[in-house]
Amino acid sequence: MPMDSAVSSLPTSSRAGSPADRGGSPPRLTLVGAEGPLSELPASDPRPDVHAGGVSWSIDPDLCFLNHGSYGSVVGSVLEAQRSIRDRMERDPVRFFKVDLEELVDRSRTALGTLVGCHPEDLAPLRNATVGLCTIFNNYPWRAGDEILVTDHEYSSGQYELERIAQRHGVSVIQAHVPFPLQAPGQVVEAVVSKMTGRTRMVMISHVTSCSSLIFPVEAVAAECRSRGIDILIDGAHSPGQVPVDIRRLDPAFYVGSLHKWVGAPRGASFVYVRPDLQAGFRTIALSSRAKKIRPARSLFLRDFDYMGTDDYSAFLVVADAIDALGGMDPGGVGGLMVSNHRRVIHARDIVCAMTGLTPSCPDEMTGSMVSLVLPEAGPEASQRPTRYDDPLQDALVERHGVQAPIWRLWENPGVRVARLSAQVYNRPGQYAYFARALAEELAREH
Ligand SMILES: Cc1ncc(COP(=O)(O)O)c(C=O)c1O
Repeated sequence: MPMDSAVSSLPTSSRAGSPADRGGSPPRLTLVGAEGPLSELPASDPRPDVHAGGVSWSIDPDLCFLNHGSYGSVVGSVLEAQRSIRDRMERDPVRFFKVDLEELVDRSRTALGTLVGCHPEDLAPLRNATVGLCTIFNNYPWRAGDEILVTDHEYSSGQYELERIAQRHGVSVIQAHVPFPLQAPGQVVEAVVSKMTGRTRMVMISHVTSCSSLIFPVEAVAAECRSRGIDILIDGAHSPGQVPVDIRRLDPAFYVGSLHKWVGAPRGASFVYVRPDLQAGFRTIALSSRAKKIRPARSLFLRDFDYMGTDDYSAFLVVADAIDALGGMDPGGVGGLMVSNHRRVIHARDIVCAMTGLTPSCPDEMTGSMVSLVLPEAGPEASQRPTRYDDPLQDALVERHGVQAPIWRLWENPGVRVARLSAQVYNRPGQYAYFARALAEELAREH
């Protein structure tokens, strides 16, 4: 198949999370897509491979599940590890919360620091990326008149919190328009830089965008910010496990990441990186009963974020197990998995485009393990149908075909309707052929 000619450059010998890998650098790779036209189409088949990667996936074996990107999927061994943490919590809840918790958080933090390329002690666990963004906005020392610059591909929850913050502090939210479809990463840099002014205090930008599935050139944007004394907040909710993350190299003020998506941790595991010089006074949104306990051996930053009140912390506590499981799914470890998922999704895109006449929306180098394809508009009657998702077309795909793939409009550009496809080891080419047929049939019904 043409996909096999895709080129990658990365270390393939170590498994992230293995002892040898823990002390090293994060996986690095270059994502390069397929060359040449698709030579053959796979037979249409909705079923995932629930044993792919030598692990056990819980996904419904009859569901054509093409949306790993939203909520991920947790493999059997990680669910088992989480169950054992919960059992330990039940055996002596007091010891668990008072004595064991910090040590268990540190185990995950160490594995995570290796995966995302930073000192573990600069990472704080949080339940999700939304809380991470909110915590940053509420801690930042805004001054009236400041500008925060965002792109029009940013995730909605961060935007909503920014609106509140902007009102409270007299800050202006400035939006840079990034076209979609687009031809080159340079268009993103150009769009953002063109909106920078002497008042720009912070740039918030996704590492991988949610609706449009684009890898943004955050390294170039971070370098621009550095040269102008602007703080950069990188929203990496989609990044760990999908693309290499090297926080040391990016050197942002803040980096937020989710671990339930492409790392495969249970939901409730995310993190925020805070640059060391910004950690003093950076506190949780709600202060816990331990907020004034003085313990010189441990920084206030860690003490605050490791215990934020009574909760089930088990999702974050099995992050090391999730990274280990992820690294075991591909002979090339986590880095190898990123490359093979990239190939899978480029193949998927080519199948769907060949079968539907849709066209790619971005160059392969801007694609990780997800692609978004721009769809034609529905007729007036079809667009008025009710939806339990975000677009009636998705309801039709789920109910009539057993296909789970999101159909969305770009939040800040609602004239653009897209279908987003994810690729994880359990996805087979036949599923995308099945999706393409179902999509073509439902698009025809919309008129
Ligand atoms: C880029 C981006 N940022 C933030 C979020 C919010 O994540 P959560 O819903 O886990 O808080 C998402 C969710 O998918 C996202 O894609």
